Amino acid sequence: MKLSAALLGFLPAAVLASDIHVAFYAREVAQLHNVIRSNNELDYGCRPKVLRASESEHKLHAYVTQEEFDALKRSLDPSVRLETVSHHHKRQAITAPIGKGDRFKGGKVAPLGIGTKKGITNAEQLGGILNYNEVYSAMKGLEKEYDIDLFNAPEKTYEGQAIVGGVANKAESKKCDKQYIYFTSGIHARERGGPDNLIYFISDLLYANKHRIGLKYGSLSFTNSDVKKVLGAGIVFIPMLNPDGVRHDQTNSNLWRKNRNPKSSTPGQPATVGVDLNRNFDFVWNYTKHFAPGTGAASNNPAAQTFYGTGPFSEPESRGMKWVYSKFPNIRWYIDLHSAVGDILYSWGTDTDQTYDPKMNFLNPKYDGLRGVIPDTATQKYKEYITEKDLYNAQLQANLTLKAIEKAGGKGWIVDQAAGLYPTSGATDDYSFSRWHANKKLNKVYGYTFEFAPYGEFYPNSDQYVQNIIETNAAFMQFVLNAVKIGLK
Ligand SMILES: *[C@@H]1O[C@H](CO)[C@@H](O)[C@H](O)[C@H]1NC(C)=O
Ligand SMILES: *[C@@H]1O[C@H](CO)[C@@H](O)[C@H](O)[C@H]1NC(C)=O
Ligand SMILES: [Zn+2]
Repeated sequence: MKLSAALLGFLPAAVLASDIHVAFYAREVAQLHNVIRSNNELDYGCRPKVLRASESEHKLHAYVTQEEFDALKRSLDPSVRLETVSHHHKRQAITAPIGKGDRFKGGKVAPLGIGTKKGITNAEQLGGILNYNEVYSAMKGLEKEYDIDLFNAPEKTYEGQAIVGGVANKAESKKCDKQYIYFTSGIHARERGGPDNLIYFISDLLYANKHRIGLKYGSLSFTNSDVKKVLGAGIVFIPMLNPDGVRHDQTNSNLWRKNRNPKSSTPGQPATVGVDLNRNFDFVWNYTKHFAPGTGAASNNPAAQTFYGTGPFSEPESRGMKWVYSKFPNIRWYIDLHSAVGDILYSWGTDTDQTYDPKMNFLNPKYDGLRGVIPDTATQKYKEYITEKDLYNAQLQANLTLKAIEKAGGKGWIVDQAAGLYPTSGATDDYSFSRWHANKKLNKVYGYTFEFAPYGEFYPNSDQYVQNIIETNAAFMQFVLNAVKIGLK
């Protein structure tokens, strides 16, 4: 049964959300690939990711409505098992609370991370998940306590909110040409704890630097000299790239992912509001042109979770993310923080990497309509070019960072190429890496997507919230230390 548009208008937003977290299980990766192919518009999280479940099985997570669940039950190949992991409405009672009021008192109080604050094991001890207003006041608190520079992206969001960023440096390197690291989070609104992970990490660094101490995440320790090295690399950060989406998600608890731009929406159909900012960047944005038919790198359906917008950089949030590269032109290493998979993804996201044919690349129109078929077929043999050295560096960074997460106590994380089995277009990580390929006058940036929360839930429970901070903060520390070693210039 399809609900009529008129009826949808009267249902609360929560009813429309993909309420059921499911996992598909199959022996062969290809079977799950078929699931994705024949159910293109399902919500697979940031991007579909096939993971090893056991010696003999693979799994794929998705978030579906009751209608979709029933339809899948009827249509699914019997060799693929569909299991319910959790029901969103039932989990609500056990998810970490969102903070009320303003624990940072408009910026009079600076946030303290958990690398420097002992004995934190649950979200309540920190005051709950940062509400969207507290993200702004936390930034002001850091500015006041540590004298870091804050900036607003040039344009506000559709709902008039500022996109705020900061620059964490050592005092002696405050110029705009000494920033080599760029971190963003909160581009997908529902990925709760993303902004918190980043803000607490920066808070730890600044506190440890000021008080001449080291940092500890789980059982992984960093020295004060590590802290200085990391700050010395100059970190530009935007903790909440999608403030309108975060406000909407926190207000309605409806697993909202996109921004809130209503331009392409249909009245009475709440799901058609908003653009997936992580498909809106100018990197093979027009997927119907650049990719093979049916590869689903994005969607032109405003109701889809991966709706790509009305043009590359049609949204102020994605333009704001890009603007940072013009303001800090020496950035070399970039992470966009997401959830909920437990992976570190390196370039490219268009197709499987290859190091043998420089002409087979995303800029070459000869390959339009052929990209994104993974694995290749007899007629579609496109792979994305990356130099051997870049591939080595990109993987080395990812491998070493994974080790640090595991040392800190993180379990279930993997390293993978962003494309994995399924391509994406218009994403932050590929856009960042592609800038130099498209224009050799720009700096080369190694772009990554990190997805925390290996347990697969966008809303962490109270302990998971703290564990996520431990894992991501250990990862951020090690990532910058690796960057210093592999090269900032
Ligand atoms: C995408 O490219 C195709 C083929 O060149 C073109 O027909 C279509 O108008 C483009 N779509 C957009 C939204 O620009
Ligand atoms: C990274 O780890 C993978 C998997 O263990 C391995 O195949 C690859 O060679 C490693 N690369 C580097 C540069 O460490
Ligand atoms: Zn995401």
